Amino acid sequence: MKKSVELKKVLVTGGAGFIGSNLVLTLQERHPQAWIVVADDFRSGNFKNLVDFRGDVAGMDVSRMDWRAQFGLERFDAIFHEASITDTTEHDQRLQVHDNVEGFRRALEFARPTKTPVVYASSAATYGIGGAAVNVEDQPPKPANVYAFSKMILDNIAREQARRVSAWRIVGVRYFNVYGPREAHKGAAASMIYQLAQQIRAGKRPRVFKSGEQKRDFVYVKDVVEATLLGLNAPNGVYHAGSGHARSFNDVIAALQAQLGTRLETEYFNNPYPFYQPHTEADLSRSRARLGYAPKFSLEDGVRDYFKSGFLTL
Ligand SMILES: NC(=O)c1ccc[n+]([C@@H]2O[C@H](COP(=O)([O-])OP(=O)(O)OC[C@H]3O[C@@H](n4cnc5c(N)ncnc54)[C@H](O)[C@@H]3O)[C@@H](O)[C@H]2O)c1
Repeated sequence: MKKSVELKKVLVTGGAGFIGSNLVLTLQERHPQAWIVVADDFRSGNFKNLVDFRGDVAGMDVSRMDWRAQFGLERFDAIFHEASITDTTEHDQRLQVHDNVEGFRRALEFARPTKTPVVYASSAATYGIGGAAVNVEDQPPKPANVYAFSKMILDNIAREQARRVSAWRIVGVRYFNVYGPREAHKGAAASMIYQLAQQIRAGKRPRVFKSGEQKRDFVYVKDVVEATLLGLNAPNGVYHAGSGHARSFNDVIAALQAQLGTRLETEYFNNPYPFYQPHTEADLSRSRARLGYAPKFSLEDGVRDYFKSGFLTL
């Protein structure tokens, strides 16, 4: 991150989760003087992600919390909003829309009077089930499940608030398929890379939907953290955080087997999910130009680093 913004007090919602905890620990390392506050109700996050954390944790549901009562007149230099229901197979529409949208709305209402910069997590899930085309930020969203729908509403609210209130930074970072250390707590909602690594390590044949040629933009969490931090210095808008490449599940299996030294045969089965995205791929032109984002990890590099971290073999 450009050192231009000196952070003294930062709030990270969802900071006990996968991406949030990686962000918190990076902030702590780069801004050792900063006081970092995590707001997380631990519905999917895990304290184990934050054992090295030296800041504060508000164990609160951000979609129901009275932010003013919680933080008083405390002024943050930045709010990173990561809190969200992240299980895309959670189809309770009332819950997904309420918690995801109202959590964000409350964050913005709290930030507005002081124009505290807000960087929030958007999602490539908003693109829905398109063809094999490269995704661009301005393409019309077509959410195929209620999780994606809730994320689309976040983008709509952010756009409107940024239009209405001048000189207030609200930046969305649209994550693609993120993988890396500190995702194990997500269980079935963790990345395909994590799931397949566990299967292969257990000596089981890797199992993927037929024919394994569905392509996703798999992006390593270290790149996603960089993109999120860069959001603090970017013009308002939504920016992709992907690797810029679509890679198949078969590629993932090959990368994992190369690291593990195994040659297990893949087992293919029918896909039960009608809303499954067959192809995601981030166009990075806007992120490169306006965010200054330059992902460092190819799929193979990310998988290697993930193994090196020890988090894939815990
Ligand atoms: N992991 C991915 O591939 C990916 C892709 C696109 C977007 N995202 C977005 O990135 C963000 C982080 O996701 P993640 O992968 O780290 O998932 P995660 O489930 O590990 O993290 C989400 C965190 O938010 C917390 N949380 C959820 N609702 C809350 C609420 N109402 N109040 C307080 N805390 C709440 C959870 O306890 C958890 O710690 C989410 O907004 C998610 O939608 C993730």
